[in-house]
Amino acid sequence: MEHSTQETRSRIGLHVNGRSYELDVDHRVTLLDLLREHLGLTGAKKGCDHGQCGACTVLVEGRRVNSCLLLAVAHDGSRVTTVEGLGDDTQGLHPLQEAFLERDAYQCGYCTPGQLCSAVGLLAEAAADPGAADLGRAGIAEAMSGNLCRCGAYPRIVDAVRDVAAASASAATAAADAAGAGRVVA
Ligand code: FES
Ligand code: FES
Repeated sequence: MEHSTQETRSRIGLHVNGRSYELDVDHRVTLLDLLREHLGLTGAKKGCDHGQCGACTVLVEGRRVNSCLLLAVAHDGSRVTTVEGLGDDTQGLHPLQEAFLERDAYQCGYCTPGQLCSAVGLLAEAAADPGAADLGRAGIAEAMSGNLCRCGAYPRIVDAVRDVAAASASAATAAADAAGAGRVVA
């Protein structure tokens, strides 16, 4: 990170949705404002700007965070994923995006980008520590409780996350079975 002549700004690098940026940022700019106002990525929303609603949730180094609470300058070199980076034109929608559509898991959609990024983070946490993960209805609701939905779409959001968690678990079981079937027994 290079400090500019004025002590209030620094030059940082960020990798956002697979693209690298070199940015001259004011030290007071939050990651949320940097994404929305400087990079034009308006998927993450500013609901409360105080870390209380989850509308601004993005992934930093794969972990879900409230981007309104982070100063961009403190994340020089970080890898950031926003809702715009979950699906792409070649691979299509992310499985969670498909599940949200399938389950009709939104009404106004304001909280949806944050819900999606939070759910991606939750499933990554569960994959990293399966023993500690509770992907039942109550467990998902608790783990997603930092993401508020003023439309009350919670039951369908939980359904969508459960669908993807179940599909991932079946895929992992099938892969383990296939590996077991391929094993040579002496
Ligand atoms: S806008 Fe960040 S938590 Fe509400
Ligand atoms: S769908 Fe409207 S706030 Fe959640």
